[in-house]
Amino acid sequence: MSYLSKIAAILSLAFAVAVIAPQARAQVNPTAESVSEDALFQALGTEGVVSGRVSIPDQSAGNLIKPVNKDWALLHGNTVVTLSVLAVIGMLALLTAFYVIRGRIRVDSGLSGRTILRFNSIERFAHWTLASTFIILAISGMNLIIGKSVILPVLGEGAFGTLSAWGKIAHNYLAWPFMVSLALIFVLWVIENIPNKLDMEWIKLGGGLFKKGVHPPAKKFNAGQKVIFWSVIVGGAALSYTGFMLLFPSIAGSFTDWQFYQLIHALVAAGLSAIIIAHIYIGSVGMEGAFDAMGSGEVDENWAKEHHSLWVEEVKGGKSASGKGAATPAE
Ligand code: HEM
Repeated sequence: MSYLSKIAAILSLAFAVAVIAPQARAQVNPTAESVSEDALFQALGTEGVVSGRVSIPDQSAGNLIKPVNKDWALLHGNTVVTLSVLAVIGMLALLTAFYVIRGRIRVDSGLSGRTILRFNSIERFAHWTLASTFIILAISGMNLIIGKSVILPVLGEGAFGTLSAWGKIAHNYLAWPFMVSLALIFVLWVIENIPNKLDMEWIKLGGGLFKKGVHPPAKKFNAGQKVIFWSVIVGGAALSYTGFMLLFPSIAGSFTDWQFYQLIHALVAAGLSAIIIAHIYIGSVGMEGAFDAMGSGEVDENWAKEHHSLWVEEVKGGKSASGKGAATPAE
């Protein structure tokens, strides 16, 4: 090859690299139908299974994609997300309707100005540790399933990435104080939450929630609160167990066990979150005088008589575990 033809060959190669190659690269569209997962499986004729050979003992590591995992991903990505969103939005809609129809539940006899100790500092510490950790766990967990479609477009990639990274750390570490406070409230309140026949009467009267002036008798916890208590204990225990398995997959068993724990974890979290939204409503804006029980720990005597008449009798008789035994004037 002459000197000149060598230069011409180099120049045409440089032209090809500079002009033609980027065009060829630009034609590769990674999201195009031709390279979609389903099209790939069809082309491979493998009905969704893509596997090869591995030289390590764990032969399942050779499975790149298994159909059963695809089903799980679909169940997790669609059904669970839909159910979770429905549970939370449905409960918010119900509570809004309840508030519009019934309004805030007032103390019918008016505030007396005298207070009774309802929850001591240990009970309140346990409650607020449980409540604050649960709320952060619920929000950071929800972010894992709907954050990408709901929060990412609002915050943008940078902020969403930072938030999600912190959310994941919070989710992993706050699970521990959640479990400790769960055990504590179980020990503190289990005796008073054992169902008895008074609960049936309370349920028959709808707890007096739907009609002004109706006040079924109740001890320290009424039937509605017992439902909350046992939902929190059973749901919290299920979340703790399955969450533990998700944190330590090596002891969780096979990958199908792990997927099962993941599913239960997500479904229980959604159900309990919906129940807790109702609890937060009734413990704050929904009922006059209720928040004080967990705020200062002292409730108005008339509130106590209307919602927990038998407990007031016990406190007045000096028998209550956490009551002072006598009412004290409010400041
Ligand atoms: C801002 C959020 C919350 C508020 C305002 C709130 C308020 C209250 C109040 C006022 C009580 C006492 C009711 C009474 O005097 O009988 C209570 C009890 C209780 N709370 Fe909360 N709470 C909140 C969050 C939570 C969370 C997240 C959990 C659990 C995950 C929880 C679990 C409980 C349980 C088990 C009880 C005892 C049973 C009952 O009264 O229903 N709370 N809460």
